[in-house]
Amino acid sequence: MAAIACEYQPGLEGIPASQSSISYINGTEGILEYRGIPVAQLAHQSNFIETAYLLIWGELPTKEELEQFEYDIRHHRRIKYQIRDMMKLFPDRGHPMDVLQASAAALGLFYSRRALDNPKYIRDAAIRLIAKIPTMVAAFQLIRKGNDPITPCDDYDYASNFLYMLTEREPSKLEARVFDASLILHAEHTMNASTFSARVTASTLTDPYAVIASAVGTLAGPLHGGANEEVLQMLERIGTVENVRPYIENCIATKTKIMGFGHRVYKVKDPRAIELQKLAEKLFAEMGKDKYYDIALAVEEVVEEKLGPKGIYPNVDFYSGLVYRKLGIPSDLFTPVFAMARVAGWLAHWREQLSVNRIFRPTQVYVGDRGNSYIPLENR
Ligand code: ACO
Repeated sequence: MAAIACEYQPGLEGIPASQSSISYINGTEGILEYRGIPVAQLAHQSNFIETAYLLIWGELPTKEELEQFEYDIRHHRRIKYQIRDMMKLFPDRGHPMDVLQASAAALGLFYSRRALDNPKYIRDAAIRLIAKIPTMVAAFQLIRKGNDPITPCDDYDYASNFLYMLTEREPSKLEARVFDASLILHAEHTMNASTFSARVTASTLTDPYAVIASAVGTLAGPLHGGANEEVLQMLERIGTVENVRPYIENCIATKTKIMGFGHRVYKVKDPRAIELQKLAEKLFAEMGKDKYYDIALAVEEVVEEKLGPKGIYPNVDFYSGLVYRKLGIPSDLFTPVFAMARVAGWLAHWREQLSVNRIFRPTQVYVGDRGNSYIPLENR
């Protein structure tokens, strides 16, 4: 196909990088659908494993298909002792996203055969990644505290098992349900930076562990998944409801980004933020309000007043941190937990990319010099 000439767009804004039938966003109406189903419906009625199946295989599973998928994931949760031992060698102060990226890549050492034309290989890789990423996230948390990781518990569902491995206690039904719903809300979001990264990596026909490691590295940045961690730091810095207005006004005056606000696509409140706020309120009703919730509400009010006309509203990261903190998740694990959910979307895009693959090889607009001559070191 002949190349289509078009103007350079920083951040590729508005340029389609693929055709996809996985998710749909309407940024002015605040719509997000997975395979055509509104995400709020899934968050209320589905569970994360069923939603992952829907995303990856394109339709809701039958009862038998779901039972088999859940069974397979439940029985692939353990990680090899070499991965645990490798994690013990990482610095305690290393960021858990870096640990997750290295560990996801390391899985490829054990399972990679690059049999991309074999449906069983594809299915097994998807199951292993969904099953093992939570175990790796929880394992590092215990290792850096000087403890041995907890073995996954086959009796627990996906969400309960993660919270159990992380916090070393049995979560309540509400905690597990809220966490599961938050995973659904983070599972997929069209052609964002980490998904694009996953698709570019997939297009080289490398193994799926490299695809996920590449996406994890991209999600780690503060302009993408890393923002949820920074939201709580911002709320802590603000400290009181009275400080909100001067803090936000100062951010605007100094052109400092307010974390958890703004989105390339949404020009209204992110539908995921609406659902996450409801989940936070459910948790607060049962477990007591987070001391920063009133500050968060005041921040939303002032930002809406000042920046609403520019289409800047809370994004998915604004309320997720408050939910995670109530669940006992340390703030530097917020982005790894996001990755646990987004692995479903990345795997769906991996499969979709393979089904229509052409290696990504965009062009560039060269703006450098031409025809220069080498200058010997002694003459510079
Ligand atoms: N606070 C203050 N002003 C903002 C914010 C914000 N959070 N977001 C955008 N703006 C302003 C910009 O200053 C700019 O104003 P200008 O036109 O007067 O210069 C305008 O809105 C457009 O902003 P861009 O940064 O060009 O928008 P872009 O689409 O490139 O960026 C992004 C989107 C990266 C999400 C941005 O809004 C941001 O940095 N937000 C804060 C970080 C964040 O919360 N990231 C999580 C996003 S969701 C996710 O990745 C899971």
